[in-house]
Amino acid sequence: MSKELPIGFMDSGLGGLSVLREAIRIMPAEDFIYFGDSLHAPYGTKEQSVIRDLTFAVVENLMKQGIKGLAVACNTATSAAVRLLRGMYPDLPIVGIEPAVKPAVVSSHGGRILVMATPMTIAQEKYHLLLEQYRDQADIVSVPCGGLMEFVEQGRFDGEQLDTYFRENLLPYMTDDTETIVLGCTHYPFLRPHLMEFLGDRPIRLIDGSLGTSMELKRRLKVKGLLREENRTGIVTIQNSSGSQAMIDRSYELLAMPF
Ligand code: DGL
Repeated sequence: MSKELPIGFMDSGLGGLSVLREAIRIMPAEDFIYFGDSLHAPYGTKEQSVIRDLTFAVVENLMKQGIKGLAVACNTATSAAVRLLRGMYPDLPIVGIEPAVKPAVVSSHGGRILVMATPMTIAQEKYHLLLEQYRDQADIVSVPCGGLMEFVEQGRFDGEQLDTYFRENLLPYMTDDTETIVLGCTHYPFLRPHLMEFLGDRPIRLIDGSLGTSMELKRRLKVKGLLREENRTGIVTIQNSSGSQAMIDRSYELLAMPF
């Protein structure tokens, strides 16, 4: 496999860009191809077999274009398909993102940890096994957030409807001792500024797995001798199954958003 090939990123839509921006920051010399499957979004409310087939199709497309590594920048697709993808492409370094439960528990002071994620991520066995490891160490509560990713897909990062969503879907899970919210879907980091505003002066930390996932990708590429470290600025190509130029434009805007 050639070091000069780009790294492939995939998500059900625009969310994985929150992972890609970290990857670009720590691997500036790399080229990237990002594929957002907005035509078939959301994944998080679909059946496991459907999510798998959609994920396989996107990855096959990226493989045809030629990639030297893959980030499944979607918690939902990771939990449904990453193990099978590793079996299908044994030579390809593959990382998948999962809700950052471990970092939340490690840095916890005993308060409640909320995990916001898609209903499908929460329903998967992979997530249950993850929770099982930490159940004795922390009060971890899952918050299914069906419908939340659509705000990001539609470019709505604040406003009354988002407040209403948080009031109806997040607030009922919050206790006085809630200390951390895990953003367990790659779309949610783009809602972070408004969520922080909504939380006001409650001392709650928001964490996500985008940096950890990017660091793991970098490590795997390095181990295989595939990491580009020369002095160059890589090229980022964004593709979207919706065929809409507006989605591509929004993608580049999200990538440039301060974080
Ligand atoms: N961005 C995806 C994730 O991290 C899911 C959004 C969806 O398609 O429902 O889970």
